[in-house]
Amino acid sequence: MPLLIAANWKMHKTGDETADFCTGLRALEERFAWVEILLCPPFTALASARAALKGSSIRLGAQNMHWEQKGAFTGEIAAPMLLSLEVSHVLIGHSERRQLMGETDEAVRRKVRAALQAGLTPLLCVGETEQERRRGHTAAVLRRQLTFALSELDAGTAQNLVVAYEPVWAIGTGVAASAGDADRAAKLVREVTGEILGPAAAGQLRLLYGGSVSAANIGQFVAQPSVDGALVGGASLELEPFVLLINSAREAVGL
Ligand code: PGA
Repeated sequence: MPLLIAANWKMHKTGDETADFCTGLRALEERFAWVEILLCPPFTALASARAALKGSSIRLGAQNMHWEQKGAFTGEIAAPMLLSLEVSHVLIGHSERRQLMGETDEAVRRKVRAALQAGLTPLLCVGETEQERRRGHTAAVLRRQLTFALSELDAGTAQNLVVAYEPVWAIGTGVAASAGDADRAAKLVREVTGEILGPAAAGQLRLLYGGSVSAANIGQFVAQPSVDGALVGGASLELEPFVLLINSAREAVGL
């Protein structure tokens, strides 16, 4: 499977800004045949991204969704709405949603299940806080988050799953995890997924590292055989640095 480089734009970019970025990236598309690129703009920019990317192999993701298909949930967005915009992936359980928006493990569980049932690929984010890391609780936190998120899935539907290890202390801080940390976490995520969903699902799982990924450090992550790509925030917001980052990943994997 090719590497997956996913851009999480968080609460950045209007529709017009998104269209400009997508048009610029598309113009370079022939250089990206070796990699899968996923852009996750805000909901309000998905339609512009879709228009600018029509016919392109660059994929579109959303940053969140509700677990119900429709109903009285003011301010929420449902899977069928995302599908109607040709969205293929959805971030679920990003630490900013868990920490700042009060998203619980239970909500994450419902969302992962609903995304898979709808035919969207969930990009489930897991990771420990600085305090949990200092106390040596990293493995226990990852195990708890994964157990909640995956325990009610049917192993067959989970073939489409992507998990991003995103240590909270590394997000937006400029201090990325070490390649060793990412490798250890990736192996643990695969092991726990195997315990819950069986070896076939664990084997097919795509595992990303996220947290202060940049052109300067992406190579050390994607060079790990346990890591299948990266989830990139700040370094994905401007076209040139993002293209540089993609090129660095390519050099690191020798393609
Ligand atoms: P960052 O964000 O690359 O800016 O650290 C990553 C993320 O939150 O997904």
